[in-house]
Order: sequence, then C-alpha cells, then structure tokens
Amino acid sequence: MSKLDNFKRYTITSALPYANGPLHIGHLAGAYLPADIFVRYLRLKKKNVVYICGSDEHGAAITIKAKKENTTPQAIIDKYHNQIKESFAEFGISFDIYHRTSSAIHHDLSQEFFLNLYEKGEFIEKFSEQYYDEDYEQFLADRYITGTCPNCGYDHAYGDQCENCGTSLNPTDLINPVSTLSGKAPILKLTKHWYLPLDKYQPWLEKWLDEKDGEWKVNVFGQCKSWLKSGLQPRSMTRDLDWGIDVPLEEAKGKKLYVWMDAPIGYISATKQWAADTGNDWNLYWKKQENEADDACLIHFIGKDNIVFHCIIFPSILNAHGDYILPQNVPANEFLNLEGEKLSTSRNHAVWLHEYLEEFPGKQDELRYVLTSILPETSDSEFTWKDYQARVNNELVAILGNFVNRVMILMHKFYDGRVEGNNEITLTDKTIAGQLYDFYNDLEKNIEEYRFRQALQNVMDIARLGNKYLTEKEPWKTIKTNPDDAREALHNCLVLIGRMAACLQPFLPGTAEKIFDMLNIPPVGFSDDVKFENGHQLNISSLLFEKVEDSVIDAQIQKLLDKKQAAQATKVIPLVPAKENINFDAFAAMDIRTGTILAAEKVSKTKKLLKLTIDTGLDERTVVSGIAEYYEPEAIIGKQVSILVNLEPREIKGILSQGMILMAEDTNGKLSFVSPVDALHNGSVVR
Ligand code: MF3
Ligand code: ZN
Repeated sequence: MSKLDNFKRYTITSALPYANGPLHIGHLAGAYLPADIFVRYLRLKKKNVVYICGSDEHGAAITIKAKKENTTPQAIIDKYHNQIKESFAEFGISFDIYHRTSSAIHHDLSQEFFLNLYEKGEFIEKFSEQYYDEDYEQFLADRYITGTCPNCGYDHAYGDQCENCGTSLNPTDLINPVSTLSGKAPILKLTKHWYLPLDKYQPWLEKWLDEKDGEWKVNVFGQCKSWLKSGLQPRSMTRDLDWGIDVPLEEAKGKKLYVWMDAPIGYISATKQWAADTGNDWNLYWKKQENEADDACLIHFIGKDNIVFHCIIFPSILNAHGDYILPQNVPANEFLNLEGEKLSTSRNHAVWLHEYLEEFPGKQDELRYVLTSILPETSDSEFTWKDYQARVNNELVAILGNFVNRVMILMHKFYDGRVEGNNEITLTDKTIAGQLYDFYNDLEKNIEEYRFRQALQNVMDIARLGNKYLTEKEPWKTIKTNPDDAREALHNCLVLIGRMAACLQPFLPGTAEKIFDMLNIPPVGFSDDVKFENGHQLNISSLLFEKVEDSVIDAQIQKLLDKKQAAQATKVIPLVPAKENINFDAFAAMDIRTGTILAAEKVSKTKKLLKLTIDTGLDERTVVSGIAEYYEPEAIIGKQVSILVNLEPREIKGILSQGMILMAEDTNGKLSFVSPVDALHNGSVVR
C-alpha cells in the first residue's frame, strides 16, 4: 500500500458550499462524491478519519442573493444551510459534521487567527483607493461594480471578472464603472486594509509545492505553478463590508474579514465543534505533533475554481500561524457540464438535488453511480439524461443487478434459500480467487490515487466476472446432471456477491446494504473474507435496480428546455437611471453616421462578439460588436445601422475596432440595432 497508509489520523474536507442556493449535480461531482468515496474507503480500512464540511455563510455571494430575494443575509443562510444539509444527508455524503461559518465558535477562531498573524507582524497595512457608492454610503464589493471589460469590450463585466472573455479583473480596470446599488458611477475613496504578503511567502511556497510534483494531480499542480510564475501579490485579508466576521481591531471598526480568510478556517472550527460534541481532541487532527510521524493527513476535496485558495492562500495562513499541518493533497476536480452547456444557477440550467430526490425517490445510488462514472477528474465532463438512462439500464440493471438477481433466484428455487455444504462455505474456485486478488490491488490503488471512475469500474468488473462464471457453469443445467457442481458454483457466486458488496460500500452505500441484507450477513470490511455457516438462510431477494423508461428521460430533457425558456423570459434588467445632463458641445462632439454592414463573422473563442465590416460612407472599417447572441452573422449583412465613427479605436481580442454600433438593450437583455426607418445614403449624419 501507498504513502497514505502511514498516517495515524486523517482530516478530510470538502469545500464549504455557499449557503446562497440549493445544490446541483455539479456540486456532488466536484467536491463531495469523491471525498465521500474516499472517506468511506478509509473507514472500511479501519482508519481514524474525520470528514468535515459546512456552509460558507459570508461574502458577497450571500448579500447579493439576499438583495435579489429582497430579504436579509441571515434569512438566506438559514434557508439554504438547512436545505443543503438535508440534500447531502439524502445522498449519503457521510460528513462527521456539517457545520456553519455563522457559528460563534467559528467567528472566535477566525478572529484568533487574524490576531495571531497581526501580533506576529505578518500583515502589511496599506491605504488604497477603492470604489465607494456615495448614495449608499458604502464601499463596493467587486461584484457590486459592473462596467466595460478592457479586454473584450463586453458591457456587463464584474469588478473581479469578465464573464464574456474570462479575464480576471480589478474593479479599477473596468471602463465606465457603475455601482449596481445606485446605478451611478462610484467614486474612489481612501481606505485601509491588512494584506497577507504572499510575495514574501513565495519562496517558501515554491519549495513546499515542488515536493508535491508527481504526487498531486497535474491540473492542480500546473495551476499552482502558473500562479507562482506570474508572481504572487500581497492580498488583502480585510474588506469594507457589512456582512461577515468583524476584524478584531479597534481601528478597523466596521471592516470584515475577507471571506476567503475565514471560510477555510471553517474546516478547523467545524472540527472543534465535532470534537466537543464527541469527546475527541481536535488538536490531533490539525496541529503539528511533537513527532512529525504523528501528524494527521490533511486532504482538501474541492472544485478547480478553489485551487488558489487551498493551495496558496490557506497554506500560507496556516504556515504563518505556525502550529498547523499543511495539506498532503488537494485533489481538485474540473467542472461538470449538463447537456452540452455549463451548469448555471442564474439560467436555471441544472439538475437540482432536491428536485431529483422528489422525482426519483429512493434512486440516490443511481445518481451516485452515474456521477462517479463521469467524474471530471482530469478534464471537464458531461452529464446527459440519455447517458444516465444508458448507464442505469446497461450497467446497473443489466450487469450488477442481473448477477445478484440470477444467483438469488436460483438459490431460492433450488434450495429454498438455504446455503448448505460440508461445513463453512467459502470461495473454492482458484481462478476466481486469483482474479479477485488482482481487482483488489487495482481498486485500492485507484482509490488512493483519486481515480474513482476507474475504481468503480473495478467493482463492476467483479459483477462482470460473476456473470461470466455463472454463464459458464450453467447451474440451471448441471443441477440435474451434477448437483454438487451446481451447488458449488452458486455458493462461489454468493461469496463473490458478498465481496462485491464490500467493495461497493464506498460508492453505492444503499445498494451494498441491500445486498448484505439479502445475503443475511452483517456488512464486512473492504477486503475481508466472506463466509456462510452451513445451513445459513438467505433472505427474500428483490430487484436492486429498475430500468429507466424513455418517457422519464424525455420529460427531464423537456424540463431543462422549459426552465431555460422561463429564465430567459423573466430576466429583467432594471432601467438604468437617467444620466447627468451634458452640454450641447458634448453631444455635438459625437460623430454618428448611418452605415451598412458588408460582412459579419464570429470572433473565435468568444460567445458574444461579432467582427463586422461597415461601409460608413467615409470608409470601410472594422468594428467588433457584442451582439453574437442575438444576431446570426449571415442575417445582418446588408442591414443599415447607426455607428459612432469618432470613438477612439480599441483593440478587442487582437482585432482593432474602429467605432461603435449603436444598440438599444431591451429590459430582457435583448439587443437591437438602432437603424434609420428609411434607407439613407451611408455616411448620413445622425443628430
Ligand atoms: N464557498 C466556496 C465556493 O463555493 C468554497 C469555500 S471552501 C473553503 O466556491 F475552503 F473556503 F471553505
Ligand atoms: Zn472581457
């Protein structure tokens, strides 16, 4: 066995989900299902494990949702914390504790961490100018500022990121920034913050990370390296917000801790709470022990958007504190897509766990199976309902369920479900035993190296092996010609089923339990022997899985389409408040003309941009315009439009854009050309 075996204790975490909405299949596939499989495996190996999670209840994610639902952040976190907790429980995600960052124990520990670093003089204290909304008398979180992306020209970029081209931004990078609170341009105002000197930690981080080369997943390691390569900058650990944990300094009144400072400390505070509840010592799971060999093994399961926080920022905080262990591994997953598109909460393009539970009651293991089969372990992957149907029908029903069912039916038919032999009934077939042994080695290695898709296939191979063995042995025939042989074959199958159930436990815990129940034996450990006493009575069997009908799948696909349409129809962009008056000269300075679109093509690697060639009457020129979602290139050729011709040229995606096509934006976000009602000569002045 691997390096993993050498630890006395294991501290396993899954990313704390924001309590700002329900969970969908992307959450499960990202950070929870893999961790749960891993933890259940460790427990079956009789390891000392604590599995930690909870709700992340601070940060702009929460306040934005509260504003949208016209309620308080407290109401939002209470609602979603409970809903999320319940969904996890329903899917058998076996946390030892599901805690929350709004708890007192967490606030206290986070402040303690901050003060510890503060007193050591770790923070750099710096004044900087940040955007401030004068009407609302508050500084603006990055997500509260929108404006034009300096990179691609997209109009609704956020202060931290442009969702059109993916560039990460600072609020001050935005062209024409607007506060989403008042709709007005924010002002810059001086404010003091406390920065973690990541640049100072860089040499230490590099050394620490280099030891992980070859051991960590390449996607994770590669991302860390590229962050380091571009050079780390000090990062502010405080924010001007009104929701979060107070910065515990007199001079920082009204400021809160940065959510990415407090959230990962949530792993520790949750462990403290668990320890208090169960009479354990939390220090053993988080602190460096006197002898390094006694340290716990810390592993963070996360999605790829969390890599920098878990591999760079949090380790830096832990290291600056000094008393804490660092993660052994951060097996981040990539993203899961749905029916060819990104999962999206705002567009309601998702399979929500609470809805699945209502529509597929008792079918949690089916979803666990399908998601484990397609986990985005090394690259983004895709969930489709057709694939769900195929995997349930062709694998769970036809392979796993079928094997168990055939054996159980024959046992009941021939022997009334009694297992009778000479004394103890064990595996007698040497070939099968040898193959099982190989499976175990493979299976363990795959789980320990975070290849859960492959590991699940190993377990399915036991069922495949069983089916093949049964078909070869044909006990339904030999029962007449060689009854001893038939009996032995079926007994071997029973042992195989027991051992398959043992291996199935981390993946499909409900199914494993059902199988043990049919076999009428207590659950066994991962690679323990399975034996039956002479005269053992099996329980009545029932089908483990049911076929998924076409109609069920069609309904789910239709539901996604309906949701998408509904989301589109209800999307209302509030009218932008009237702007300040300008003088006539400012208006006259704009040279707007009529022009005709001569050519149009998509700008590659963008969703929204078209490259247009315009006859402006004055010349022919290129303009990049963010209208690709609303107009097909072919459909607009020959259209007459209005164009601002004296706008400073700008480079967008490597194309020099000379001017701006005038567009009106409807309240549902649709864009439309502002065209002359009658055909005019190109170059006609608009005034
Ligand atoms: N809430 C964050 C997200 O959903 C994850 C927080 S993980 C933790 O992206 F480490 F901060 F807890
Ligand atoms: Zn952009």
